[in-house]
Amino acid sequence: MAKTIAEALLEASAALGNKPDHRRDAALLLGHVTGLSRSEVIAHPEALICNAQLTRLQAMTARRRQGHPMAYLIGTQAFWDLDFKVTPDTLIPRPETELLIEIILSQPDTGPKTVIDLGTGSGTIAVSLAAARPDWLVIATDASIEALRIAQQNGASFNNLIFVAGDWLTCFDGITVDIIVANPPYIDPLDPHLAALVFEPQSALVAQDSGYADLKAIIHQSTRLLTQNGYLLLEHGYTQQGTVLSEMRLAGYDPIAHCDLAGNPRAVIGHRKETL
Ligand SMILES: C[S@@+](CC[C@H](N)C(=O)[O-])C[C@H]1O[C@@H](n2cnc3c(N)ncnc32)[C@H](O)[C@@H]1O
Repeated sequence: MAKTIAEALLEASAALGNKPDHRRDAALLLGHVTGLSRSEVIAHPEALICNAQLTRLQAMTARRRQGHPMAYLIGTQAFWDLDFKVTPDTLIPRPETELLIEIILSQPDTGPKTVIDLGTGSGTIAVSLAAARPDWLVIATDASIEALRIAQQNGASFNNLIFVAGDWLTCFDGITVDIIVANPPYIDPLDPHLAALVFEPQSALVAQDSGYADLKAIIHQSTRLLTQNGYLLLEHGYTQQGTVLSEMRLAGYDPIAHCDLAGNPRAVIGHRKETL
């Protein structure tokens, strides 16, 4: 028998556990299966939803109860100014990564730039920069072809954005760029927090050498490609800033540390020294 929006919402919310977060998730899932916005769901509690939609809602609610992230269930995640398509092939963009965009956009704007976003995932950093700076050329790269396909879809409306598959910077030769930015995998394979991240690709999260292998590889590969006034910007784990600062100094950068809005050390920007 068909149910009203209000009945379906109550049922989904109860199935999830009935806490405020569960009610919000239930409303988002209901909006996703019906195509209604959150305000439409609230404004039309008496409207009927058909059996096919109800069955889909029940299946999604069951997956949510098993721990599947909301972003994968509804297929999108907001980041900076845009909504991004995400799938289990891509990391779910995190709000703390917006710090990288803030840092880049707050640097003195001295005209067109070429940027490489390493490990672009769903394309969040590359697409946000391409949107904010139409006169820049942004190169989005990833070792995962599946992730790169999603990034391509997210960036389809920008003509200052190109996509290249490859292992960090090893696929680039004979070019120089002004900015290299990356949110690479940096979680130690033995970190107990990984147990809560089983739905996301481990290749996007975990790095060898206690989480440092990719950060170090990028730092050491980057000097070859940066222009004289160029810079490297890296996100890292909140306990890793000291090592990232020293690795950058060793590679010949003048690094500056940054914290996220919660005050956690999360990013380092390294300006090329004159002598590099
Ligand atoms: C932490 S995710 C970041 C995704 C996205 N930039 C974001 O901030 O949401 C790291 C990304 O690096 C990619 N990656 C891992 N190893 C790589 C490698 N050797 N070369 C290029 N990309 C790699 C993963 O596929 C993943 O998309």
